[in-house]
Amino acid sequence: MITLHALEATLAEGKAPLKVVWVKKGELTPQGEALDVRLGGVLRRAMAGAGFKGEAGENLLLSTPEGHFLLFGLDEDPRATGGRLAQALAKLSFPEVLVEALEAYPLAEGILLGAYRFDRYKGSREEKPVAIQLSGANPEEVERAKKVAEGVYWARDLVNEPPNVLTPEALAEAALSLKAFGVEVEVLDEGAIQALGMGAFLAVAQGSENPPRFIALRYAPEGARERLDLVGKGLTFDSGGYSLKPTEGMATMKGDMAGGAAVLGAMKSAALLGLPVEIRGYIAACENMVSGRAYRLGDVLKTLTGKTVEVMNTDAEGRLTLADALAYAERQGARRILELSTLTGSAVVALGEEVAALFATEEAWGRRVEDAARRAGEKVWPLPLERAYREKLKSPVADLKNVGDRNGGAITAALFLAEFVTVPLVHLDIAGPAFTKKAHALGPEGGTGFGVRTVLEVARGLTDTTPA
Ligand code: BES
Ligand code: ZN
Ligand code: ZN
Repeated sequence: MITLHALEATLAEGKAPLKVVWVKKGELTPQGEALDVRLGGVLRRAMAGAGFKGEAGENLLLSTPEGHFLLFGLDEDPRATGGRLAQALAKLSFPEVLVEALEAYPLAEGILLGAYRFDRYKGSREEKPVAIQLSGANPEEVERAKKVAEGVYWARDLVNEPPNVLTPEALAEAALSLKAFGVEVEVLDEGAIQALGMGAFLAVAQGSENPPRFIALRYAPEGARERLDLVGKGLTFDSGGYSLKPTEGMATMKGDMAGGAAVLGAMKSAALLGLPVEIRGYIAACENMVSGRAYRLGDVLKTLTGKTVEVMNTDAEGRLTLADALAYAERQGARRILELSTLTGSAVVALGEEVAALFATEEAWGRRVEDAARRAGEKVWPLPLERAYREKLKSPVADLKNVGDRNGGAITAALFLAEFVTVPLVHLDIAGPAFTKKAHALGPEGGTGFGVRTVLEVARGLTDTTPA
């Protein structure tokens, strides 16, 4: 467990059993220099002796009569530096550490994200508390980083929870916990979903013993003039249905609610931060399973908008649940929508595991989200909503079918979603970055909480510029 605190004292002035000294290309920062002068050059001599240049993430622990010092290589990216530092400190056991803040916000965010662990199902858990003093940090920036990290942690937890625990009902219960933070939460059960006419969402859900839930959230701080509507994919497990996934593909499908988790995490952080923007969130939560009641290939579904869809692949279920969630969001008065979903393997083939695909039905809205993602340190890249491919979704019996052909699969999925809204839509296909199979600077393997920080930056951006 890492706790962060802002401190005015410099590295040389402050007292702590361990001080971290940043190194870049063999050079110390001015604060590091001042400390080294006070120590009579111990640090420089040790660096020279060990040939330590301070490659990114490389570190050298010195124990001297004046105390312990961790020489630490700076990364270009302050978030990555913070994450690597958190991971290095977890291997040591100093209860208190003094660190020069440099760029305090991204460093603090990186430290917190890098310290994340999901070990609630492990027998042995050793949690050594570490208090980090950030020298020279603005206390408000440290507080902001904590509140953002809290939302990211929650989103990661929800993704990492096993699917036998995190059922659609459990996801709805988790959403209800936001009431304690002043968020209005409404949960619709199967009967209410049916009464509304969400035929596509219900078809996906009908194969499971675990009933679906439709989650609607509203964070409406007093005086909010801007509004942001979010939609997140909420498949608590995606087996593929009768278009069954092979084992390797199915193994990470507990994470198919990562878009919904990002919506929840962002709304929690927004409430903690008191962002002056009204934010609504919608999640159609269900499981895609195989059973005698499951939907079939060839089924024709009636969506909330009235448009009909012929099912040609039961594994293209996310777009069906999202079609109804998007239409519902628009019905509730959304003027622009940001939607996040682990929607297609095609997006992963196109952009790899680290970059989300961004689709926008309106350029200005797309650019806002792209810029926000850059500020947030999350990687997104635009793909075209190519109208020429719209014909791949033509069905002989219904208004649309739910899959195109093998080519441009992320694009046809995005085109499908765009059929169900008229207001500007940004669709982020987060199938790649939502879940990682290897540990990285900002966290361990598993859920990444991707999208939370981008959503928060979008919301922040709405408050300090003129509306799009
Ligand atoms: N949940 C998957 C997409 C996915 C793939 C997420 C890999 C994360 C990692 C989605 O429901 C799906 O199965 N999509 C199909 C669509 C296809 C049948 C048109 C896919 O991408 O294969
Ligand atoms: Zn699927
Ligand atoms: Zn899916």
